[in-house]
Amino acid sequence: MKILIINGPNLNLLGKREPSIYGTMSFDQYFDSLKTLYPIVDLSYFQSNSEGGLLDCLHKEGFNQDGIILNAGAYTHTSVAIADAIAAINSPVIEVHISNVYKRETFRHHSFLSPVVKGVIAGFGMESYRLALEAFINQD
Ligand code: DQA
Repeated sequence: MKILIINGPNLNLLGKREPSIYGTMSFDQYFDSLKTLYPIVDLSYFQSNSEGGLLDCLHKEGFNQDGIILNAGAYTHTSVAIADAIAAINSPVIEVHISNVYKRETFRHHSFLSPVVKGVIAGFGMESYRLALEAFINQD
């Protein structure tokens, strides 16, 4: 099973960025632990701070992955282009957020992506990614 994790803007700073919200672990550390926990999954990871970088990755990978786990960061709340790309590709996408966006500022309550994804997981810290992975592994 091929699963790609895509992180959007500022998520390269995980571990350093607002640790009270996003925790103290870098994504590289977390990604290594996921690979160890799920050796049967062909797991890969991409991060970009630019909307274009995320679009190019979705276009390139969105026809050959069994699932994509996407944390689009702030673009979740602004990007019609990323929503259109998700609708255009074949691979199912799960939207994830580390924080519970519904507990935060109201501008984080709206997602352009939610209507075009398979499901949404938010608020479980880094474990949001693992829960999304479990959802793909356990699907029929
Ligand atoms: C986030 C929530 C977004 O609102 C924010 O802009 C992020 C991270 C999360 O994982 O909790 O960059 O997607």
